[in-house]
Amino acid sequence: MDGIDPDFEGRVLVVANRLPMTIKPKDDGEFEYSISSGGLVAGMKGLAKVVDFKWFGWPGIEVHRNDKDKVRLHLADNFNAVPIFLSNDLAEKHYNGFSNSILWPLLHRMPEKAGSETDWSKAYQEVNEIFADNILPYVEDNDMIWVHDYHLLLLPGILRDRLKKKKNLKIGFFLHTPFPTEDYFTILPFREEICKSLLMCDVVGFHTNQYAKDFLDSARIVLPGVARSPMDLHWAGRRVLVHGFPLGIEADEWREKLETEAAQSELASIQQQFKGQKILLGVDRLDYIKGIPQKLQAFDRFLTEHPEWVGKVVLIQLAIPTRADVDTYRVLREEVEQLVGRVNGKHATFKYTPVHYLYRSIKPDLLSALYAAADVCVISSVRDGLNLVSYEYVACQGKKKGVMMMSNYVGAMKTLPPSSMVVFNPWDTLRFAEKINQALNMGEEEREKRYKEIMKIVDTWTSAKWGKIFLETMMEGEIPKNVGMPD
Ligand code: ADP
Ligand code: G6P
Repeated sequence: MDGIDPDFEGRVLVVANRLPMTIKPKDDGEFEYSISSGGLVAGMKGLAKVVDFKWFGWPGIEVHRNDKDKVRLHLADNFNAVPIFLSNDLAEKHYNGFSNSILWPLLHRMPEKAGSETDWSKAYQEVNEIFADNILPYVEDNDMIWVHDYHLLLLPGILRDRLKKKKNLKIGFFLHTPFPTEDYFTILPFREEICKSLLMCDVVGFHTNQYAKDFLDSARIVLPGVARSPMDLHWAGRRVLVHGFPLGIEADEWREKLETEAAQSELASIQQQFKGQKILLGVDRLDYIKGIPQKLQAFDRFLTEHPEWVGKVVLIQLAIPTRADVDTYRVLREEVEQLVGRVNGKHATFKYTPVHYLYRSIKPDLLSALYAAADVCVISSVRDGLNLVSYEYVACQGKKKGVMMMSNYVGAMKTLPPSSMVVFNPWDTLRFAEKINQALNMGEEEREKRYKEIMKIVDTWTSAKWGKIFLETMMEGEIPKNVGMPD
């Protein structure tokens, strides 16, 4: 893929709370650096193919004063990244508190999961200011600053205010979560400040046009005087482009990963272990948006209604640890583990374990092998911004051509062809169970046809293309005709 417009003379500065690596202190006083997980980090790998960029973000732990230079140097040399150091107390209130206990549930329309603590909003504001303080010394007039996700919603406004003199500076924002309808958005503390901040951008992007429309509606309600025409906003003398830009994956890289010796050996051992059995696969961060309990309940129901499948099908559920210090996530882990125990207790025999549950992060070669081995991938989110796991599964299914089961509430329903997937409502356990039956019984010809239709989209709308389109929209001030979405 070609890079961005060669006439562009500035630099790209990416800002996201999460850096591409996670740092852990080791016993010998050194640090261990591992690749971070999640859709944001996966997406930025594609951007790296079209442009060099500096990445600003929080290193995930408090780094002692004496170690800061060492970490700074390592990140600069190995990742072209700049760490923004935060104290434990501040990071706790910003990340676990305001971002993940208030914004995350509200953006996913789950106010019942939200906490309330007045200190968190102050910390959120402070962290957004600290990010701005750290970025300012790097910014030059022709640069493009691309801010990502809900941890930094106030940052575009702060940057624009402090960089008034840099007339050519472009600021973009991309939200990696859904955007809620106005009735949920207006519950948000800082709703006015958030809208004002985002309207200081040149481009505001979402995974789907529906989220973009919901933002446009909310902005007009929260800020009287905002004019809309039809996908851009005019406010305080500024024009802001607002649109859906669905992320994708680098499918070639997944295919290459799968061809490595390590992945092939993992694949062979999975095939050996589950010989004669079909595999349903779930790969999710252990997050309440992912609908893992709903999936387990439907699988339980399916085995009850279809005893002919007992012993012949397993559900492999990877639960990637995430945000484990937030109460709602701790409660979810207990719920999921109880359910796994219940389903296994009910349907297992000495020779058969229906649910294989792994609460850990696994290496990419094993992940690609699991994707390749699975007969059905089950995406059961009750709300999900886009969901890249669905794309990755298809990319690794060149031989098997397995079935994609997709909940109605996932952003990818707007980007992948619904007629090529088995679509279900995760709340409707009985019908969900019947859809599992339909997926397992689907014939080869039908699977092949569906696989080809989905693969075409996955291969075309890559993360590199997403990054290129977004940055070129910022440069040109116009949204290209086709950005990878049918609606
Ligand atoms: P979310 O962003 O909510 O986590 P997505 O499905 O969009 O959901 O993205 C999850 C991403 O995390 C995928 O790209 C997946 O490959 C990646 N991932 C899953 N397991 C791991 C892991 N063990 N290490 C690194 N990345 C992982
Ligand atoms: C989602 C969010 C990302 C986040 C990722 C992993 O994809 O949109 O911003 O990085 O989850 O979550 P974490 O809390 O570990 O950064």
